[in-house]
Parts: sequence; structure tokens; C-alpha cells
Amino acid sequence: MTADSDLFGDVLEYPDAGAQRRFAALVGINHIKQRLVDEASVLIDPHFLEQWSAKHYGGTLNLVRVVEERTPLIVLAGDVGTGKTELAESVGDPIARRIELESLCLYPLSLSARGRGLVGEMTTLVTQAFDRVRSSLGQARDSQGKVRNAAILLIDEADAVAQSRELDQMHHEDRAGVNAVIRGVDSLRRDRVPVLTIMCTNRPDALDPAVARRAAHIFTFARPDEAERIQVLSDALAGTGIEAADIAEAARQLGPTEFRCCAATYSDLRQRFLPDLVLKAYGENVPISGDALISAAALFTPTRPFKSGDD
Ligand SMILES: Nc1ncnc2c1ncn2[C@@H]1O[C@H](COP(=O)(O)OP(=O)(O)OP(=O)(O)O)[C@@H](O)[C@H]1O
Ligand SMILES: [Mg+2]
Repeated sequence: MTADSDLFGDVLEYPDAGAQRRFAALVGINHIKQRLVDEASVLIDPHFLEQWSAKHYGGTLNLVRVVEERTPLIVLAGDVGTGKTELAESVGDPIARRIELESLCLYPLSLSARGRGLVGEMTTLVTQAFDRVRSSLGQARDSQGKVRNAAILLIDEADAVAQSRELDQMHHEDRAGVNAVIRGVDSLRRDRVPVLTIMCTNRPDALDPAVARRAAHIFTFARPDEAERIQVLSDALAGTGIEAADIAEAARQLGPTEFRCCAATYSDLRQRFLPDLVLKAYGENVPISGDALISAAALFTPTRPFKSGDD
């Protein structure tokens, strides 16, 4: 048996003020945030949809049953540094608050055991992870059937596990990993266990069709557009006195230009561009000027996009 510490990274428990701040700090993806909280809440506890149906239609619509029959699996897919992990790790907070759970824990599956080459290891790891998360719930529902304890199983960097078994170069152990995930999510659905599985991947087009068809929703993440870049910069530069026109020009420069193919990612902006800007001004012991902002933007090299396919 694998110890929990080998199976999972740090387990997070919600509601949590830190997660609330991280969730709030994600900008430009409000439509994804809203829909994800709605989807996840209903997947964890369909009771709320039944209440909505009873209120507006006097009973449970067939349509509600259709929604309830879906597999509690959500895929977050898209380019690097666009907020997939950040959202997956923080969304438990609004969900726990929305559906008033006594406990909601996030178990991040650690795929570090991958690649040791032990036959059967991937399958065992995934199967044990599903079992552990299920058994962590104890008594999941109260006597009225309302969900009290729920969990999220996060399979981040799921490219290897979620990748299509059709890919020729795929190692058979990885194929078995996909099968184990499919068995795991199917059993959660069959037994109506309030565990939501979230998978993150950079390769939406290489997702295994059996995983893709089960997903209740596949959310696609992209790099920020110009308006979203303005939002990230304006938020971070609040209090510096830099003019809106300079921020807008910097945001334009951080987009695709004739010299660069792609725009900066959210993480480029937050983890490289803005810290560099501040540290440069700090090093020179001067305030940040609009001109410094624009010239840094013009010189910035964004992270190259994640290439899908057979690269
Ligand atoms: N929408 C956003 N708004 C503000 N900041 C963001 C946003 N998305 C990402 N970031 C910033 O970028 C950092 C990296 O994001 P995250 O780790 O979630 O990316 P990712 O999509 O999981 O990338 P990868 O595919 O490389 O794992 C976050 O810590 C956060 O600071
Ligand atoms: Mg990530």
C-alpha cells in the first residue's frame, strides 16, 4: 500500500481565506470561474438543482435527471500559465461556501511516482488515489440526503494520464493509467459519491476520447487579450500614479507584434514582467515611470506556447 504522503501533495481544506484570495486574484476569466462554481456545486450536490426544479416546476424535471447523470469530471485545458492550476486549487473555497459543506478537501494526486518504470505502478497509484479519497469522506450525507462532506481529486499536469491511448508512442503503462482514471470516475458516478475529479492538461486535442466524452465540462484557457492585460497591469500598478494611457500602451506592446508571435501569458505578467519592473526601479532607487513600463513591455519575451501534437 502506498502511504497518503506518496499519493498526494498537500491536502487543502475549504473554506479557506488564502484560497479565497487566490480565486479573487484571477482576472479575465470570470465566465470560467462562474460556470465552474455552478457546475462543480451541482456535480457535488445535485440536491440544489432539485430544489431549483421544485421551486419553479413543482417537482423534479427529467432534465434535472439528465444533468445528474453526468460524470463528476471537469477538465481544465489550455496554454501554459493561464490559471488552470491556480483555479483548480482555489475553486474549492467558493464551492464550499455555496453549498454549505462541513468539509471539502482537495487531494492533489502526485504523479511523481511516474517514470520509475515499475509495471502496474501508474494503475495502482490512480486506483489507490480514488479509493483513498472515497474513504476520506466517511458519512458523506446527512439523514435528509444533503451532502455534508465532499472532496476534489486534482489530477494536475494530466497530459500523460489523460492523453489519448491512440498515440502510438504512448507507453502501455500510461494507457493503463487512462483506464484507471476512467474506472475511477465511472465508479464515483455510479455510486453517487460526492467527489469531483478535476484534470488539468496543456493538450486539449490529445485528450483521450473516453476521458473527453465523460467530462461534464471542458473549460478552455487562453492567454489574456489586450483588455485582460490592461486589467492585470492596472490591478498590480494601482498606487504608482502611472497613467491609464501608458498602461494601455504597455498592454498593447505585450501582445503579438510583428516581432513576436504570441502574447504574454498571465504568469508571464505576474511572475516575470511585473516583478522585473519593480526590482529594476528598486535597484535604481527610482519610482516606476510610464516610459520604463512601456519600454520593458516592448522588450519582453513571452513564454512560447505549448505545442500540441507530436512535438
Ligand atoms: N487569470 C489570471 N489572472 C491573474 N493571474 C493569473 C491568471 N492566470 C494565471 N495567473 C498567474 O500565473 C501563475 C501561474 O498560473 P497557473 O499555475 O495556474 O498556470 P497553469 O495554467 O496551471 O500553467 P501550466 O500549464 O504551465 O501548469 C499564477 O500563480 C498566477 O499568479
Ligand atoms: Mg498548472
